[in-house]
Amino acid sequence: MTTSSQPDPAKLAASRAAVALVQDGMKLGLGTGSTASIMVEVLAERARTEGLSLRCAATSKATAELAARLGLRVESLDDIGWLDLTIDGADEVDPDLSLIKGGGGAHLREKIVARASDRMVVIADPGKVVDRLGAFHLPVEVVPFGFDATRVLIQRALDGLDLADRPVLQRMRGDAPFVTDEGNFILDLSLEVIPDAPALARALSAIPGVVEHGLFLGICDLAIIGRPDGSVAEL
Ligand code: 5RP
Repeated sequence: MTTSSQPDPAKLAASRAAVALVQDGMKLGLGTGSTASIMVEVLAERARTEGLSLRCAATSKATAELAARLGLRVESLDDIGWLDLTIDGADEVDPDLSLIKGGGGAHLREKIVARASDRMVVIADPGKVVDRLGAFHLPVEVVPFGFDATRVLIQRALDGLDLADRPVLQRMRGDAPFVTDEGNFILDLSLEVIPDAPALARALSAIPGVVEHGLFLGICDLAIIGRPDGSVAEL
């Protein structure tokens, strides 16, 4: 590992177990976030020591820079075409492998990459496992044009789903709006619990200014949950 500080042991355990699934010649999707960064370090070390030939598509500029710096071959998703395996973190994972993602604001690229993969594996620490999604704010990426109108439409959609009066907060970075890699804004929906995730996903996707929401339903194939003692569990 090249990180100066010691990596979180649970995230490291999940990363190692996921990287063990990688085979020589694979085309990989690399996630975004602190867990995915540890995984990229573990992957780069394994690729270096075993001389693996891998092609990687990154889900964010930050991950692309990290992976390239560590010697992994990073290419655009379009150049690679289709991926064998994507490994990514998550903000919440439920027993059905439904996810909330986007805490790092990268869920648009993360969903594109995951859907362009034969298999998506989530790596997480035990704090990410929930019975029902919703305690973590649900990120929604929206285009800057008509931002206020889009926010109103999202609020109305929530009203129709027994989620009235839930705060819809613009994500900020300091005093300025948070801007995604695609140049869009993020609205974080403070829902507490999501009674019907497919209905919410449909309602959000139907709003023109919404680019993508952070609900990943039916996308994840396996979740590897690392524990602080270095063991892992699979969902
Ligand atoms: C970024 C993501 C991340 O995977 C998610 O936020 C988890 O990050 P971390 O591993 O840092 O907790 O969806 O958009």
